[in-house]
Amino acid sequence: MAPGADPSSFSSFAKCVTKHLNLTFHVDFDSHVIKGKVALTVEVLEDKFSCLTLDTKDLKIAKVTANGQGAKFTLGAQHRFKGAPLEITLPFELSRGQHMILEVTYETSPKASALQWLTPEQTAGKKQPYLFSQCQATHCRSMVPCQDTPSVKHTYYAQVSVPKELVALMSAVRDGQEVDPQDSGRTIYRFRQAVPMPSYLIALVVGALESREIGPRSRVWSEKELVDQAAYEFAETETMLKTAEQLAGPYVWGQYDILVLPPSFPYGGMENPCLTFATPTLLAGDRSLSNVIAHEISHSWTGNLVTNKTWEHFWLNEGHTVYLERMIGRSMESEQFRQFKAMGGWKELQESVNTFGANNPLTNLVPSLEEVDTDEAFSSVPYEKGFALLYHLEELMGGPEVFMGFVKSYIQLFAYSSITTEEWKNYLFTYFKDKVDILNKVDWNGWMNTPGMPPVKPQYDTTLADACINLCKRWTQAKEADLAGFSEADLKALSSHQVIEFLALLLQEEPIPVSHVKRMQEVYNLNAVKNAEIKFRWLRLCVRSKWEEAVPLAFKMATEQGRMKFTRPLFREVYNFDKFRDEAVSTFIKYRGAMHPVTAFLVAKDLKVDQGQSTGF
Ligand code: BES
Ligand code: ZN
Repeated sequence: MAPGADPSSFSSFAKCVTKHLNLTFHVDFDSHVIKGKVALTVEVLEDKFSCLTLDTKDLKIAKVTANGQGAKFTLGAQHRFKGAPLEITLPFELSRGQHMILEVTYETSPKASALQWLTPEQTAGKKQPYLFSQCQATHCRSMVPCQDTPSVKHTYYAQVSVPKELVALMSAVRDGQEVDPQDSGRTIYRFRQAVPMPSYLIALVVGALESREIGPRSRVWSEKELVDQAAYEFAETETMLKTAEQLAGPYVWGQYDILVLPPSFPYGGMENPCLTFATPTLLAGDRSLSNVIAHEISHSWTGNLVTNKTWEHFWLNEGHTVYLERMIGRSMESEQFRQFKAMGGWKELQESVNTFGANNPLTNLVPSLEEVDTDEAFSSVPYEKGFALLYHLEELMGGPEVFMGFVKSYIQLFAYSSITTEEWKNYLFTYFKDKVDILNKVDWNGWMNTPGMPPVKPQYDTTLADACINLCKRWTQAKEADLAGFSEADLKALSSHQVIEFLALLLQEEPIPVSHVKRMQEVYNLNAVKNAEIKFRWLRLCVRSKWEEAVPLAFKMATEQGRMKFTRPLFREVYNFDKFRDEAVSTFIKYRGAMHPVTAFLVAKDLKVDQGQSTGF
């Protein structure tokens, strides 16, 4: 494939680019279908232009027009994960610089991979159905026929017709609503996104949503059952936004709202512009998981303004975002706290490298994604190897203030564009032109194009980690006779961040005896903890120590919420407990019909369950 090409897209973005989308959605909860019409404003980049290709996935295409005239189209062969190319032949020829309006009338499939349709029983309110989208990385094409590549940026306008009991929101600024003139039982909601953005940031949610103001430019949205809890949990949002603006420059997206989704939302957070999507597992009750919001806020600069040109450069999005997220932590908490989180991140990286295998090319910072499904390639590597590289450069270039100067300047220079790692690196060398001799000593090939752990291990301050390290040591070294020495007091001095770290450290060690985890439950009562990050690691630890009573609890957590970071390792952990392997598979098969399509696909792969063997639909 030519350099600069996007191996995950069929669309012909070298010869034309989308500048604007005008979307019309009719959301049908009976058939689980969106009836859609999209008008793409396309700029032509070559002479004698008369055909183009869009990305689609499981779409039914009814009609295509170009500048109002009917256009011929064919759907090419379906690819395993890329979907099918929509090849369009225009009834006329255009030249470089001209624009046209391409209109596609279509329907989505009930199994569209971007969408999860929830029954009322799957919601908090139990009365109304619910729909949400998750387009990153390559699922937008199952909702909208488009140039589904992060190398193309466009604005959008949308009108969404939904049953009048429900509210629609999108990754855009709200632009009013009206009774649907076609059907008085429905409401049309309008949205405007005036900042050019890639297709993967298009997002839609429809449900019985309410909202509360949490800041001058922020509201939280969720079903009414959760809205007060969410308003409390995310009360620091405006402080975080201001801190981020200090670090990275003005926030250009106008509104910054947060939507708390139903439990099956597959990620912790998703940086949809103007409306971050968040898992309800962030509702710890004590704001201790708010770093996810700091992370999604940071994407407003790194990811949404400066965007990876293809998914092979995903670390540009996530590595810089983790770097900014931890800089926000540094401002709001302390440098020691940043060091503590960075050390935890290194451990996450180690775990990803262990699961993928240290020779797996997907553990490269810049992997090749030719014929690779981005969902299957997803891991902590772009986040934590990316962060580790930026932190290493920070140390070499003169510390956090100096390096933030670079990051801010990088954002300013590349805002509103999509870039590759090479462009990032060239600018690094330009910005630090007085320090190129130091930069030239960096093992760039080792960092970027070599699998496994990075060539340099940063030394982080251990002030906040020491208590976790010590408690972990006490447990791993304890003999049966020492178990009486543990008490409730051991955890009393630790913050919830430190409890997470303590359990993460234990998970890196050989499994402790089952007598030890039982004693741990006796003295710490971790079964009663609400914090999902603590509960997740605790249940993994119990299953790994082969404590049979923990297995039902692990299944409960794996199925009551669907955040992949928790659900996939929990299923895998029980699957690896020989005695319960079959039960892991049967539990998955029982629940898969109610799961998010991407989560169901990946857990099936993890548990080696045949993708065709379905639940009877
Ligand atoms: N953009 C990601 C989520 C994502 C990545 C969705 C790739 C689909 C494909 C989001 O910003 C993210 O990284 N979320 C993390 C937050 C964490 C790193 C603080 C998550 O979901 O846990
Ligand atoms: Zn992210």
